Amino acid sequence: MREELLIDYYDYVKDLLDTESVKSMNQFIQHGNITCLQHSLGVGIFSLIFVRNLGIPCNERALVRGALLHDYFLYDWHEKEDNHKWHGFTHAKTALNNATRDFELNHIEKDIIGKHMWPLNIMPPTCREAWVVNIIDTYCSTLETVSRIPLLRFLEEIIINAGKTIAI
Ligand SMILES: [Fe+2]
Ligand SMILES: [Fe+2]
Repeated sequence: MREELLIDYYDYVKDLLDTESVKSMNQFIQHGNITCLQHSLGVGIFSLIFVRNLGIPCNERALVRGALLHDYFLYDWHEKEDNHKWHGFTHAKTALNNATRDFELNHIEKDIIGKHMWPLNIMPPTCREAWVVNIIDTYCSTLETVSRIPLLRFLEEIIINAGKTIAI
């Protein structure tokens, strides 16, 4: 992992990571034993690696800020509660409502958060940053869920370690 990339990443999201509400994402399990905060950090870091390695021009700051907040729904989706019974279909909207309430978001960040569950949610992303997070979120979620495969476990370690480095 290039240190320069992590420094840039941290610079983009530092103010968000300093808030109690974003820190609280670390108490909710996302997949396996990975918390929502670790997952969201991983999605942002991998998204940044993806666009830089492929030379995709984009708004990097919006890309990683949107990625950090894409699952900002702030509850444990494993608990059986009526208000998040349809989590897969509803949490992108909940995350967008929460993020809009708590932070100033630009249109790219809103698109990333609100559209990250396409095609489960009908409206597709309208900017390339949102397409990147949509793809990388699926990739990371798969890694986190099927981590028994050795290669995938190795990649998962990279995500978690990068997440921990920044989160602590
Ligand atoms: Fe999500
Ligand atoms: Fe996610």
